[in-house]
Amino acid sequence: MNSTEKATPTDVELLEKAREAAHHAWAPYSSFPVGAALLLDDGRVITGSNVENASSPLGICAERNAAAHMITSGEVTADDGHLSQLPTILAVAIVGLKAEPCYPCGACRQVLREFNCQRVIVSVDGEPHSLDFDEILPNSFGPEAL
Ligand code: THU
Repeated sequence: MNSTEKATPTDVELLEKAREAAHHAWAPYSSFPVGAALLLDDGRVITGSNVENASSPLGICAERNAAAHMITSGEVTADDGHLSQLPTILAVAIVGLKAEPCYPCGACRQVLREFNCQRVIVSVDGEPHSLDFDEILPNSFGPEAL
């Protein structure tokens, strides 16, 4: 590895990033702050936290905010100025400050599936626990079906 390349973060480090993100949650209604950290195939780590709203159905989970951030901060490569390729999420780490482990909700599983998420990392007794994405969303529907 040359000095400008970054080492791939460990699962412990990804959980730490997710925990930091959880401290930026806006969760006054549930008091259930969550943070997510996405490790992308281009080496970037993108985080998100849950953002709730007084009009409760408008709240958005940490994982989906991270996925939206991943898209909006991605490199634009198409001529007409949009992302031309789906990013691949190598792993998502999730931390709920009030619950351990904190698994992604069903809606977030489907959104992560869109981006070929391969692994989920949660914290169990303070240690990283890794699951293959297929274990948490088997027989899933994705973009290749259309
Ligand atoms: N929440 C997440 O951000 N991610 C999950 O995977 C589970 C739930 C949020 C949604 C809501 O703001 C709060 O946790 C309580 O449901």
